[in-house]
Amino acid sequence: MAATTTSPTEPGYPPGFLWGAATSAFQVEGSPLADGAGPSIWYAFTHSSAWPRGNDNGDIACDHYRRYRADVALMRELGLSAYRFSIAWGRVLPEGRGRVNARGLDFYRRLVEALLENGIEPFVTLYHWDLPTALDDRGGWVNPDSVGWFADYADVVARALSDGVRYWATLNEPWVVADGGYLNGVLAPGHTSVAEAAAAGDNLLRAHAEGVQACRAAGARYVGLVVNLEPQHPASGAPADAAAAARAEAYINRQYLDPALLGCYPDEMGEILGPVWPPRPAAEVAGLRQPLDFLGVNYYSRAVVRDDPAAVPARASKVRQPGSTYTELDWEVYPDGLAEILTWVGRRYGDIPLFVTENGAAFADPLPAGGLVEDPLRVAYLRDHLIAARRAIAAGVDLRGYFVWSLLDNFEWSHGTSKRFGIVHVDFASLERTPKRSARFYSQVVRSNGAALVADR
Ligand code: FCB
Repeated sequence: MAATTTSPTEPGYPPGFLWGAATSAFQVEGSPLADGAGPSIWYAFTHSSAWPRGNDNGDIACDHYRRYRADVALMRELGLSAYRFSIAWGRVLPEGRGRVNARGLDFYRRLVEALLENGIEPFVTLYHWDLPTALDDRGGWVNPDSVGWFADYADVVARALSDGVRYWATLNEPWVVADGGYLNGVLAPGHTSVAEAAAAGDNLLRAHAEGVQACRAAGARYVGLVVNLEPQHPASGAPADAAAAARAEAYINRQYLDPALLGCYPDEMGEILGPVWPPRPAAEVAGLRQPLDFLGVNYYSRAVVRDDPAAVPARASKVRQPGSTYTELDWEVYPDGLAEILTWVGRRYGDIPLFVTENGAAFADPLPAGGLVEDPLRVAYLRDHLIAARRAIAAGVDLRGYFVWSLLDNFEWSHGTSKRFGIVHVDFASLERTPKRSARFYSQVVRSNGAALVADR
């Protein structure tokens, strides 16, 4: 059954809109130590005795490192106009700094070449969570030297690839890096310290600011930052819940964007992080702001929160919404939140070009049958979010592109390969790729520049 959800009078996606899919190095490449690469914190995390998932690690993942040509061909078949991927820092600089590993850089040169030959715009993220262990041994993001390490790394990669790559994002989701890696410990390097998270967050912002300058000096054309955003809605009309939502919004949505785009930290940071949050000299914080060519927004869900004094550090905890659909990661499906957050960014931060750099969902898909995987929930998820994005454009948001997370089922961090986000199914034993119904649906949308937003379920 096909039902058109566009109306001829409604403005659509602008010409030249980038239609892409996103992945990250550790989640898809496999062969983490190949060709002279140095290990990353994710390699170490998944090979430590504390890793609960046994051999379910990133050693093979989707084998994209060796199958990238076939994967690029797949993107072309789908009609994609862009591919967002990340560079594994340790492939390029095995010790994290100093000596450059030419074979590591060559992999990304070949990947960029293959994309360009197929008319697909490469969209690079420099840091998607896989810090070299050699730098973690020196304190990782908690060490203020990480700022210089990152700027030097950005310089090496941008010098090597900026001929072919126009779009450069410094960091992917700095909030998750600090909160998941240094406060909650669910992500590598698995630490649980508010003080470390506060320091790491600040260093990440400095690294971003210096990284932007390094990228530009090395010839990068469009440089930006990728953040994860979720509207924070109070669970009730009680003032305590409204205050909790405001704290959560400051901690998750504004902690990185206010300094990067406005040159100041949210007032709430001291209240949230407590004594580990010394007031920063205003002039120093102002230096965190660098003109950006774009902002990448990763959107998956909203949060409905209530006041919870026990919840560290923002004293806000999520409340489940009866009647809502939840994904396999227990994230509420809430498409309106995408339009809400994009218009919020426009209102608060002004006229910055935006990309949806990640959007997608994990569902328990059936096995491939007859060369296809039927994933109606993902089709509905994508359709409804694409319609919400179009609504934001109609409301005046300068949205330039959309990347589905993800091209392939892949290594979903602490969940390993058990949670599947791909529009293409991966059999992790044979590594065979099988398109899902959502890939066909997305391909139709892409090929018509969104005009054919067709309900295909
Ligand atoms: C985001 C990450 C991405 C992926 C999705 C599901 O936070 O950037 O790597 O794991 O979540």
